[in-house]
This record gives sequence, structure tokens and C-alpha cells, in this order.
Amino acid sequence: MKIITSIKEMQQYASRIKRSGKTIGFVPTMGYLHQGHLSLVRQAKRDNDIVVMSIFVNPIQFGPKEDFKKYPRDLKADSAQAASAGVDIIFYPSSKTMYPKDYQTYVEVVELSKYLCGMSRPGHFKGVATVVAKLFNIVKPDIAYFGQKDAQQAAVIKRMAMDLNIGLKVKVMPIVREPDGLAMSSRNAYLSPPQRKDALVLKNALQKAVCMIRSDEKNAEKIKLCMRKIVNSVPSSKIEYISIIDAAFLRDTKEIKGNILIALAVRIGNTRLIDNVKIRI
Ligand code: PAJ
Repeated sequence: MKIITSIKEMQQYASRIKRSGKTIGFVPTMGYLHQGHLSLVRQAKRDNDIVVMSIFVNPIQFGPKEDFKKYPRDLKADSAQAASAGVDIIFYPSSKTMYPKDYQTYVEVVELSKYLCGMSRPGHFKGVATVVAKLFNIVKPDIAYFGQKDAQQAAVIKRMAMDLNIGLKVKVMPIVREPDGLAMSSRNAYLSPPQRKDALVLKNALQKAVCMIRSDEKNAEKIKLCMRKIVNSVPSSKIEYISIIDAAFLRDTKEIKGNILIALAVRIGNTRLIDNVKIRI
């Protein structure tokens, strides 16, 4: 496995691969890898000749009061994990390489970025769409892989790729969970042992919602109320949102029907966690 830090070298490598008729699967990440990231690599490996992973903690998708500086980083451990999962190339640019002085171009997926995480993280999806568009131009993938864990991000990227005619396929893979059900996340590393236990309220609330829907509850407000009670049962929690939305347009829905996404963002202490479940009625 090779680590490339230069944009030009990455582009030249990608062009060479394409000229030889091989396909590139691409997994963009911010590193501090876990099994969620590696599940994307495994799928990329099954579908493509070459797998490229990017590791880049993208400064422009973090708000001024967010955790950009303290976001966990460990290139050595990441390289070992990536290599054993079958990554061929890690693209590891610096912030200066990606955003040189006088950088001024941004990509905004206007409508889909407004809801859910977009409400409390203004500018976040603009930062994500911009870096992913740049990475697509650098890595030139045939298929790019994203996790359902960040459901809104996946929707934003799919829309961006379509709207800008990028000409690649976006595959969204299921959420990988810890044995007790907590969705894997690099940010779980921030949780103290008691907070780690409290964090299970996210998946408990989602399970309750699914259970109610399976018993034919159609009223979204009632379901959200039950979810709130579960999350509020631990004092360390602070709800940012609990939403029941149309899975395609991410708009609030009052009645449970069609393709539904139940999504929540909760702070456990200072750590912001998200989780969701998709359900079809
Ligand atoms: P990061 O949080 O490192 O996640 C990289 C990819 O792994 C994303 O597509 C995310 O949805 C997926 N992922 C994370 N946890 C997962 C889990 N438990 N199960 C399945 N997939 C999971 O998302 C980002 O980085 C950045 O915003 C990025 C797209 C790289 C742009 O900077």
C-alpha cells in the first residue's frame, strides 16, 4: 500500500489506472478508522480493481466551535488497518494542499443541506460537498462508497454527483454497530465509560420507534415523543433533533408511510452523536 500526499501524483496515478482499463473504488474518510470505514473498503474491494481511501480531516466542514483541532488522528494505526482491509492507495493531503492561499470555490447542495444536521451545523454540508467534489476530481473513481450512518451526507453527495454530472456511482452501505448496538463512530473515542453506556439511548430510541411502527403506529409525533422520553432518561443527554422524515427529500412527515428515515442527533456530555434507521411501510 502506498501513501500519496500530492494532488498531482494522485491524479496521474488515477489516470494511469483508468488508461489500463481498471476500475477505481473510492472511500473518503477523516481517518481514525473503525469497522464502519472498513466495511466500505471491503465492498469497494469486491466491486473494483483498485481501492483508494482518502484520509483528510477537512477543516471547512467544522464550525468555529467544533472539534476540528481535537478530532482524533492516528495515521500509523489507520495505515495498518487500511492495508489489511485491502486498500491500495491512501490519499493523505495536507490542508494547505487542498486549500491553498486564495482558495475561493465552494459547492452547495442548497435544499438537502437545510434540514437535520444542517440546522445546527451551518456551512457543514457546504464543506463536505466541496471537499468530496475536489476528491472526486483528484481520485477519478468509478464508484464512491459512503455510510448510511451519515444519511444526510450520503443524500447530499448523491445529489451533488448527479447535479454536477460527475459521472460516477455512489453506493451507500449499512450502518456498522458495536456488539451492544452503538453505531460505530470516530467520535465514540471521546466518551467516558459512563457516557459510553448512556450513548445507547440513541439506538434504544430508534428501536422503540421501529417497534411502534411495526405495531401499526402511524402518528410521527407520538413516536418522536416516546423517543424523546428514552433519550431524556439519561441526564448526560441533550437532544439536538429527533426527526421522522421522507427518506428521499429529508422533509418532515406527519404520517408514517412510504420510505421513512428516523434520525436523531444527541449530545452525550460534549460529544455529538448521530444515528438513524430507514424503514419502508
Ligand atoms: P468519516 O466520519 O471519517 O466517515 C467516512 C465514511 O465512513 C462516511 O461515508 C461515513 O458515513 C462512513 N461511516 C462512518 N461510521 C460508519 C458506520 N458506523 N457504519 C458505516 N459507515 C460508517 O464522513 C466523513 O468522514 C467526512 O464527512 C467525509 C465524507 C470524508 C468528507 O470529509
